[in-house]
Amino acid sequence: MDVRRLTEGTLVVASHNQGKVREIRELLAPFSIPVKSAGDLDLEEPEETGDTFEANAILKAEAAAKATGLPALADDSGLAIDALDGDPGIYSARWAGPEKDFPMAMRTVEEKLQAKGALTPEGRTARFVAVLCLAWPDGHHDLFRGEVEGQIVWPPRGEKGFGYDPVFLPEGEDKTFGEMTADEKHGPRGDACGLSHRARAFALFSETCLGDNG
Ligand code: IMP
Repeated sequence: MDVRRLTEGTLVVASHNQGKVREIRELLAPFSIPVKSAGDLDLEEPEETGDTFEANAILKAEAAAKATGLPALADDSGLAIDALDGDPGIYSARWAGPEKDFPMAMRTVEEKLQAKGALTPEGRTARFVAVLCLAWPDGHHDLFRGEVEGQIVWPPRGEKGFGYDPVFLPEGEDKTFGEMTADEKHGPRGDACGLSHRARAFALFSETCLGDNG
């Protein structure tokens, strides 16, 4: 089935994560598309029962599209650390517990890396992954994946961003995501390949589904 373009109407951002919603709104800003978030619409947060980023992105986007009758964009994302066999991966949010305690989640990552003896930069490689799903009320959906390579640093650096941003140093950069402004984290505007995993997935989504709206 062909990819479907979004040419008019409201887009639902199917996330309750304020950090993600803010970033997706920033990425959508150059496009003239009215946006509502799952929080604005009081939507329920579906349980993430999938075992891949793709499955969870589909599950969240489809639930919002069905509940609202509008196209919905969901992001499933996480941090995959090589020395931890890809953990926390799809469980990145869960490692922070119900309190969404990311300082604790970052400490857990560091303790596990220390326990593995992963102390050198080469031993601490990781990537952030984001899968965006645009789902329609009739069940059609399209997927877009973005990744950014980097390494885990300790101690955490920077107060900007959210989640694991303060311990992620992208390859070739000297600031962690936590030290970057939104513009620095998203990468150059108008570039098909932004810096962050989310900006990279978004570039594929916007090229394919938004076309000349920008
Ligand atoms: P989920 O996609 O709702 O399962 O949650 C993804 C989790 O991955 C978030 O709660 C963050 O902990 C983490 N994550 C995803 N993207 C980023 C990012 O850009 N910066 C920092 N943490 C992120």
